Amino acid sequence: MRKVRKAVIPVAGLGTRFLPATKSMPKEMLTIVDRPVIQYAVDEALEAGIDHIIFVTGRNKEAIEDYFDIQPELNDTLRRAGKSKQLAELDKLQLPPGAVSLTRQQSPDGLGHAVWCARDLVGHEPFAVLLPDMVSHGRRGCLAGAMDLYAETGGNVISVEECDPAQTHKYGIVGKGRAVGTGFEVTEMVEKPEPAVAPSNSYINGRYILQPEIFALLGNQQRGAGNEIQLTDAMHRLMEVQKFYAAPFDGRMFDCGSKDGFIQANVAFALARADIRDLVLEPITEMVMAKEIRSNAA
Ligand code: G1P
Repeated sequence: MRKVRKAVIPVAGLGTRFLPATKSMPKEMLTIVDRPVIQYAVDEALEAGIDHIIFVTGRNKEAIEDYFDIQPELNDTLRRAGKSKQLAELDKLQLPPGAVSLTRQQSPDGLGHAVWCARDLVGHEPFAVLLPDMVSHGRRGCLAGAMDLYAETGGNVISVEECDPAQTHKYGIVGKGRAVGTGFEVTEMVEKPEPAVAPSNSYINGRYILQPEIFALLGNQQRGAGNEIQLTDAMHRLMEVQKFYAAPFDGRMFDCGSKDGFIQANVAFALARADIRDLVLEPITEMVMAKEIRSNAA
């Protein structure tokens, strides 16, 4: 079985749900506690054994490229100011030279199209995809769990969670087959089905391990839900010739593409940080309990 070395992270989306913040800043640079959203996806990929990150970016996303580069002036200033803790932290996060590639999705044609844009950078090997809006919180990252199942099964692996059965129209939904290892075989796959026709309430939560044969299918994929080229539709076609397995995630995923998910993620990650937890637990609890704050809601 070939090792999964590369991860594709699509970051071309406009982030209209976060206007005005995203008017001049990529949504992936919004911070959860003190790290940009994109850092969580990269950390999760590295934890799962990935050693090369491919960003599929777009116009006005240069801040992401700069963020993953070295900032020599900042480092000098920190060094002169004796801020060795901050320097060490930046150093720890620094990816090695050559470990990041970028390509641009020129037009907003959907997730399937974004992944297809990375075809030359991935080449003919299995690869991971992480949707950075979905931020994984748990003992281990979500991709690491999917990678465990991949080591058992090979083929293609997608990470799943259960959603409210009334919410299937928001996600890619899979049909459940026989149990395999810690997961199950996927029998069906459909993008954003209405609850009445959804094969289950197991939704694709934004982590994939795919074989490179997906690229040829993405290259001639018809538009689907939302008039976009959907990754789910191409995976459904690949299912005719290759196996797909689902790895249920045992942590919690926050949809940081939505305001509520983003705020919940900030609270959850702050409470999980030893250096911050005690500073915020009491004030947050008080705020939640305080009647006047809730009744002042605009
Ligand atoms: C995308 C995928 C969908 C998946 C979802 C997870 O949809 O197409 O299958 O369930 O991400 O967030 P989007 O949220 O881009 O509409």
